[in-house]
Amino acid sequence: MFDFLTGNPAVTLLKDDHDRVKDLFARFDAAKTRPAKLKIVRAALTELKVHAAIEEELFYPAVRKPVGKEIMNEADEEHHVAKLLIAELDVMDGSESHFDAKFHVLAENVRHHIKEEEDEMLPKAKGVKLDFADLAEKMQRRKDKLLADGVPPVGEEVMVRASRGKGDSPAQATRRKGPKRPKRKG
Ligand SMILES: [Fe+2]
Repeated sequence: MFDFLTGNPAVTLLKDDHDRVKDLFARFDAAKTRPAKLKIVRAALTELKVHAAIEEELFYPAVRKPVGKEIMNEADEEHHVAKLLIAELDVMDGSESHFDAKFHVLAENVRHHIKEEEDEMLPKAKGVKLDFADLAEKMQRRKDKLLADGVPPVGEEVMVRASRGKGDSPAQATRRKGPKRPKRKG
């Protein structure tokens, strides 16, 4: 890969992940059947879980100080929100009323997060004095292991599990019986 050789290998690895996940979001929008959509969601969730793990375990700590806590803390919070949605989607089978909406909101969130990373964080990170070749190698190795063994459960999964399906209050509310509608005349 040309960019891999001449650019920053750790940044290139992250950008390749971003492109793959954005492609999955576009494929979801074009998908027509439930099984096709579910398959795309499963692939996207795996991509996102692995990507978030290598960023949080390796890339973010390496650049946090020089990039600055304002950008990094916002990225952390965006990961947190995405991970909540990921944990909820993870236990869904695609038949739920809010499944598509939840995935769309996750996609919007992640697209926004990717834009901020690529416009603000990564250009700043590129300027940091760091052995990026070594970091990229560690990230790739960790990625391979997570893909092979699975990603260990994160705090957001524990939260979702503890809520026993009641954590999404607006979706819950639509399932409750609302006030009776007035009968139509005629
Ligand atoms: Fe990220």
